[in-house]
Amino acid sequence: GLNISKLLKETGTVTYDPGFVNTASTRSAITYIDGDAGILRYRGYPIEQLAEKSSYVEVAYLLLHGELPTAEQLATFEGRVSRHTLLHEDLRHFFNAFPSDAHPMPVLSSAVAALSTFYQDTKEPFHEDVVDQATVRLIAKLPTIAAYAFRKSQGLPTVFPDNSLTLVENFLRMSFGFPSEPYELNPIAAKALDQLLILHADHEQNCSTSTVRLVGSAHTNLFASISAGISALAGPLHGGANSAVLEMLEGIKAEGGDVARFMEKVKNKESGVRLMGFGHRVYKNYDPRATIIKKTAHELFEKMEIHDELLDLALELEEIALGDDYFVERKLYPNVDFYTGLIYKALGFPTKMFTVLFAIGRLPGWIAQWREMINDPETKIGRPRQIYTGSGERDYVTVEQR
Ligand code: ACO
Repeated sequence: GLNISKLLKETGTVTYDPGFVNTASTRSAITYIDGDAGILRYRGYPIEQLAEKSSYVEVAYLLLHGELPTAEQLATFEGRVSRHTLLHEDLRHFFNAFPSDAHPMPVLSSAVAALSTFYQDTKEPFHEDVVDQATVRLIAKLPTIAAYAFRKSQGLPTVFPDNSLTLVENFLRMSFGFPSEPYELNPIAAKALDQLLILHADHEQNCSTSTVRLVGSAHTNLFASISAGISALAGPLHGGANSAVLEMLEGIKAEGGDVARFMEKVKNKESGVRLMGFGHRVYKNYDPRATIIKKTAHELFEKMEIHDELLDLALELEEIALGDDYFVERKLYPNVDFYTGLIYKALGFPTKMFTVLFAIGRLPGWIAQWREMINDPETKIGRPRQIYTGSGERDYVTVEQR
């Protein structure tokens, strides 16, 4: 086995903390989480208030600038974002180069990395104005890229952005509308999606955000740093859990809807089955985002007159879990992903798109964290240490003698 204390003695005072469970990688004034109390705040504002009263674009401004915008600042910011939604025609060719069944996440990260080839502000990449322009371009163009990737995966024609619509309305139209036909927008769907994006907008130093900061600490440009963040988010342990919940619910339904039997499997840890959408590394009381989303899911299903058996199954699972010692003792509560998949499905998105929606939501947080990092005088290039466990010195052996 690995003798950590011996290795620590040999390497000096190096902290060994796999997964950064107890190591702060940075200081930050953006997002506050108290996992035991179930608290999440952006720039001091409780997530509950922002989800109810704010909009995704306003929250983006708040995360980026630290303060809520005045009416004029908000109008200016919204105007700038809506003027940058178009993609360069040459960038559009990218979408045709991918296989038709390509997963939209790598399409998204490739297209975002490619943006840096169109906007080569190499003279002063960290000049405030250059960063500000790149920020607006990313917030404006990511929904367009996402909608194009989605349409491509469906074999459908792309729909150009309509700058008279809000960001979320535009995204829904580009995802579900047709080029020359009027698109009937459902305001309930737009409101629900806007709220989901707000709830995902930042979550301090998670895997993708830490990636964005680490890549950016090498003074890599914003587009490339965000592309790396999207790649990190694509991993099933991070942004992929929302689709896993839906697959679990569909599996239970396919086997006759026996919720109690499924819960027995989870509790007996039969072949590693977990109740997906339950438990969180940080929230050990409840995930405040789950409480908001559950309410939204109900309202959406009721107002849109959708009856989805999967929602009933989810409610049953939650009810059993909240009253069961196994889950109570381990402090396992529904997390943000438990209900999001059901909402995305109700809006018409296939499971492949769920993580893409998460990426659009998380984008303002990634950018705010990247900007905070480059403006912090204490920032250094990220360069963790290691505890070497390999061979001692040995002499090279020629291939004939091996
Ligand atoms: N279902 C059943 N049992 C669970 C679950 C679950 N969802 N989550 C944790 N447990 C059990 C573990 O088996 C373990 O039990 P034990 O003490 O008897 O061995 C105990 O609870 C502690 O679990 P850990 O895995 O040590 O907790 P950790 O904090 O490392 O994991 C995680 C958190 C990964 C989120 C976990 O709860 C999980 O796998 N949940 C399901 C997947 C999921 O929903 N992920 C999305 C997270 S939110 C997000 O990324 C946006």
